[in-house]
Amino acid sequence: MLDVMEVTGPPADLVQSFALPIPSMVICELLGVPYSDRAEFQERSITRFDGTCDMRTRLAAQAGSLKYMARLVAAKRADPDDALLGTLVRDYGSEIDDRELIGIGDLLLLGGHETTSNMLALGTLFLLENPEHIAAARDPYSVDGIVEELLRYLSVVQSGVPRVARENLILAGQEIKRGERLLCSFPSANHDEALTPDAAHFDPTRKTAHLAFGHGIHYCLGAPLARIEMRMAYPAILHRFPDLRIAVPSSDVDFRPSSVFYGLQKLPVEW
Ligand code: HEM
Repeated sequence: MLDVMEVTGPPADLVQSFALPIPSMVICELLGVPYSDRAEFQERSITRFDGTCDMRTRLAAQAGSLKYMARLVAAKRADPDDALLGTLVRDYGSEIDDRELIGIGDLLLLGGHETTSNMLALGTLFLLENPEHIAAARDPYSVDGIVEELLRYLSVVQSGVPRVARENLILAGQEIKRGERLLCSFPSANHDEALTPDAAHFDPTRKTAHLAFGHGIHYCLGAPLARIEMRMAYPAILHRFPDLRIAVPSSDVDFRPSSVFYGLQKLPVEW
């Protein structure tokens, strides 16, 4: 991706040329999803969680994603390959029904590209706007601290899947009745002074835990993969383009207006 950027730019849109393709390619290869289908699945993933779209459009995008995965699962059943979905079909095909396989494939494809791509784009934007952290982000030996603090600081997943209380309980002094729904705001938790002292300050040397990948039994399954991608991608791009800079005034950077995932529409860069 960096080679292509170098040949075709500057300028380049960092979202389309780097942040989105890398996690998309990785998850496609792992799952056995054709990368050539990326335009349609990326578009549907954005629409599903876009708060500016009406609910009918969002549900249609979700139904489209499940239909797409149903076709893929049927193809894997007919001719299983060595990637994850094909392997699941071959080794456990009689124990897992299609509905479950479709759910697994859909969640992994979505989780695998949406979140990490937003981290790569927003993380690069943060580093370019705060150049005192670039040296540490460029160095593979110190990038881990930057990655963990970016995860906390940016909290790209804005809220978890809603939970339903199975019994009456008191949580942090709040009375919650059986059957009530709870929605956890990860950015609020990650910026809560009770958990992270001086939370507004970006400090890559912190040792405090964060909730960017959730907590408990539903802790992000892809956390190790996302961490590896970020630990490789930030040093790679900052090495290749030591003079990387944003090609528009900061106030013109195009953020997603309303989504479950905090992210950028595009990020024009030059070098
Ligand atoms: C920086 C990137 C990522 C972030 C910030 C992130 C964040 C999260 C969060 C907050 C949850 C918990 C949601 C909840 O409790 O309601 C979660 C769950 C999950 N994530 Fe990620 N994720 C990332 C990357 C990935 C990747 C790369 C994959 C797939 C390879 C993935 C797959 C999943 C799955 C399958 C779950 C559901 C786990 C379960 O319910 O048991 N995520 N993620």
